[in-house]
Amino acid sequence: MQLVKVDNYEEMSKKACSIIMEHIQESRNPVLGLATGSTPEKLYSCLIEKYKQGKVSFENVMTFNLDEYVGLKKDDANSYHHYMKEKLFDHVDLRADQIHLPDGHSEDLEQDCRAYEKQIQRAGSIGLQVLGIGLNGHIGFNEPGTPFSSRTHVVELSPSTRRANARFFPGIEEVPTQAISMGIASIMESKKILLLVSGEQKAEALHRLLNGDVTEDFPASILQTHPDVTVIADELALEPS
Ligand code: GLP
Repeated sequence: MQLVKVDNYEEMSKKACSIIMEHIQESRNPVLGLATGSTPEKLYSCLIEKYKQGKVSFENVMTFNLDEYVGLKKDDANSYHHYMKEKLFDHVDLRADQIHLPDGHSEDLEQDCRAYEKQIQRAGSIGLQVLGIGLNGHIGFNEPGTPFSSRTHVVELSPSTRRANARFFPGIEEVPTQAISMGIASIMESKKILLLVSGEQKAEALHRLLNGDVTEDFPASILQTHPDVTVIADELALEPS
């Protein structure tokens, strides 16, 4: 893993933005894996800004998101479909057929998971996967204990993840108990991975990622075995006060 240290959230977002722009410019058929949560918000605003300045186009890009809540309709304000439309998709030159997210409201979730894997494979696998990290080391929604061999699957969200994400919902009761997530094996097949870590609340998770053992108890630890991972971390995440 290559560690890039930056001063703050702003710098982390700008650095990630330029890595993604470079990837899009250098790839013939760029396939981006995208994450949600607070971490990539400014990265997405930066991409929108660069698009508006004519510095990047998403014309040939395919996108696959990591995860989606089960039980929320696409237009629900808390769905990741809605998040992505609001934070990125509606503001750049991406057509609906270029965008992919798991369908958390589908009649047959298992079938949807299998179809999602096939779509990723048909696209030629993910070229650059953006990741955040959960407080308990989750990547996507792969909670501690998830087999490293997992593919896109339905997951039970841990109480700590539901608590951490309750800030986006009216209350913890409204946070779904399940989600669909790309599996750990699916994520590991990405050619390049870009992990973004900001803020002191992530310091413990980052420390374990950089120094701990590779174990299913801490899903992000598998990234230590991937040949091309860049971790961009800010000072607060690196040096807890
Ligand atoms: C969420 C998402 C992940 C995200 C992580 C960190 O639950 N499912 O994709 O990377 O947890 O979220 P945040 O960036 O808000 O801290």
